[in-house]
Amino acid sequence: MKILMVCLGNICRSPLAEGILKEHLSKIPGDFYIDSAGTGAWHVGSPPDPRSIAAAQRKGISISEQRARQLKRSDFDEFDLIFTMDESIHSDVKKLAGDPVHHTKIHLLRTYAGHHDSKVPDPYYESDEAFDNVYALIDEACVKIAAAIQNQQGKTVSKH
Ligand code: 4NP
Repeated sequence: MKILMVCLGNICRSPLAEGILKEHLSKIPGDFYIDSAGTGAWHVGSPPDPRSIAAAQRKGISISEQRARQLKRSDFDEFDLIFTMDESIHSDVKKLAGDPVHHTKIHLLRTYAGHHDSKVPDPYYESDEAFDNVYALIDEACVKIAAAIQNQQGKTVSKH
């Protein structure tokens, strides 16, 4: 299963989302590939924002090896699920996706996880605390998504 996390710059939110979901799925048997991308190209090739690296490090997760890349059309074929961080990014990603099949793969991360507040706020111009808040919002969603994947896999396995 391949899952892509998408934000604007691919240096603050989606690198955290990639690292956090990887961490939760590492505890579940299965073949997972988790990646992240940005709708914008400003930071292509850069490591995550030092404040995201630090927020992840405070929770024992390393994301410093990641490098930013821009979302590309082939991502819509390659990935099974594409998670967006807020409504604005969601609508930009939907605009890029042509095929109706591709549209079915694109979901707001927090909405998909059943949360009423869909937004993972952009922390770029904010404080270190904003990065901890982003971590918590993403983690809350990823815990639920990993549990749902585990549950689904259990059902698939028990059928055979
Ligand atoms: P991200 O945050 O989308 O969570 O990576 C941002 C990073 C950079 C910019 C905006 C948001 N920027 O305008 O450069």
